[in-house]
Amino acid sequence: MFVDRVLSGMRPTGSLHLGHYHGVLKNWVKLQHEYECFFFVADWHALTTHYDAPEAIEQNVWDMVVDWLAAGVDPARATLFIQSQLPEHAELHLLLSMITPLGWLERVPTYKDQQEKLAEKDLSTYGFLGYPLLQSADILVYRANLVPVGEDQVPHIEFTREIARRFNHIYGREPGFQEKAEAAIKKLGGKRSKLYVELRTRYQEQGDQEALEAARAVIEEAQNLSIGDRERLFGYIEGGGKMILSEPKAMLTEASRMPGLDGQKMSKSYNNTITLREDEDSVSKKIRTMPTDPARMRRTDPGDPEKCPVWQLHQVYSGDDTRAWVQKGCRSAGIGCLECKQPVIDAVLAEQRPMRERAEVYLRDTTLVRNIIADGCEKARDLAQETMREVRQAMGLQYS
Ligand code: TRP
Ligand code: SF4
Repeated sequence: MFVDRVLSGMRPTGSLHLGHYHGVLKNWVKLQHEYECFFFVADWHALTTHYDAPEAIEQNVWDMVVDWLAAGVDPARATLFIQSQLPEHAELHLLLSMITPLGWLERVPTYKDQQEKLAEKDLSTYGFLGYPLLQSADILVYRANLVPVGEDQVPHIEFTREIARRFNHIYGREPGFQEKAEAAIKKLGGKRSKLYVELRTRYQEQGDQEALEAARAVIEEAQNLSIGDRERLFGYIEGGGKMILSEPKAMLTEASRMPGLDGQKMSKSYNNTITLREDEDSVSKKIRTMPTDPARMRRTDPGDPEKCPVWQLHQVYSGDDTRAWVQKGCRSAGIGCLECKQPVIDAVLAEQRPMRERAEVYLRDTTLVRNIIADGCEKARDLAQETMREVRQAMGLQYS
C-alpha cells in the first residue's frame, strides 16, 4: 500500500516557545497519526548562520528534542533523528551540487532576505548559499513526498522539485530504457499492467493529474518489483527516463500568528515569548505584567480590546463566553485588567501542564532521549542508504 511520507526539520535555536507549539508542533503531533513521519534536527543548517557559535549547538539540540517530546511528538509513531548523524545528507548535498546552477541558488528569495536581515553576520559563505540545496538533500534522501512547512519555506520546496527533476533528467536516462520499461510493465501482472498503460495514456494525452496519481498508486501497490523497475515505471508515466528522486510537495501549515506578550508575533528576537515548559510563576508574572490598552490608566477608564495584546491571547485561548465577557467588561470598565488576564493565565498553564509532565521523565533520565534519537537515526539510515545506492549507481559511482 502507498503511504505518504512526511518529513520536516527544525533548526536547533534553543528552547522552543508557544509560537513554535501553535505554529509547528501541534501540526506534527496531528500528522504523526495520519502519515509515516520523519522529524529531524537540522543542526548543519544552524551552522550555516551560526558557524561562530558551535558551543551552543549540543545543548540546543537536546533541549529541542525534549520540547518535541513534551509537545506530544511520539517516538513510537514518528522517527526522530539528528541531521549530522546521517552523513548521507552531506553526500547527496555534494553530489547534487554538481548539477546545481549557481543562479538557481542566488535567486532563492531567502538568500538575499536573510543576508539583509542578519546584516551583522558575514553570510557570504559557500555554506549559506547552499542552504536550500542541503535542505533538498534532506528531503530527497528519504524520498519524502510531503513536507510540512511555513509559507517562507515554500520556495525551498519548489527549488527541491526543480533539483529532483534536473537530476532525473540527467541521470535517469539509461541505455535501452524503453525495452526495460516495457519488461517492467509485464511484471506488474495482467490486470495491473493494463490499468497502468491506460492511466499512462490518459495522463500523457490529457494531462490528467488524477491518472498520474492513480498510475503511481498502481506501482506502489505492486509487491514484486525491484527498485530499478519501480523507478522506470514511475519515470515512464511521464516520459523518457527513470525517476530516481521523487518530487516532494509542500504541505502548507496554516499560518498561525501566535501573538507574543507585546502584541507582535511571538519571536525570540522580540523578547516577547513564553517558552514551552516555562515554570508556572514566571508564566503568571509575564502575563500579569503584559501591557494593555494604554487608555485604561485607571480601573474606572473604559478600554478597547482591539488595542490590547491581551485580547489577542484571548482569541487563541478563550471560548465565546469569555470573549464576550472581555468585550463587555473592558468597554464598560466592568472588569479590571488583572481580572481579564486570569483566564489567559489559567489556559496557558493548563496547556503547558501535560508538556511539563511529559518532559519530566526525559529530564530525569537523559539516556531515554539519546536512545530515541539513536533508534531514529538507525531507521532513517536504512532509507537514506537505499537512496544513496541508487544515486551513486545512476551517477556512475558504483564500483562493485
Ligand atoms: N529550513 C527549515 C527552516 O528554517 C528547516 C529545514 C531544514 C527543513 N531541512 C529541512 C524543513 C527539510 C523541512 C524539510 O524551517
Ligand atoms: Fe486588555 Fe482586558 Fe484590560 Fe481590556 S480589560 S485593556 S482587553 S487586559
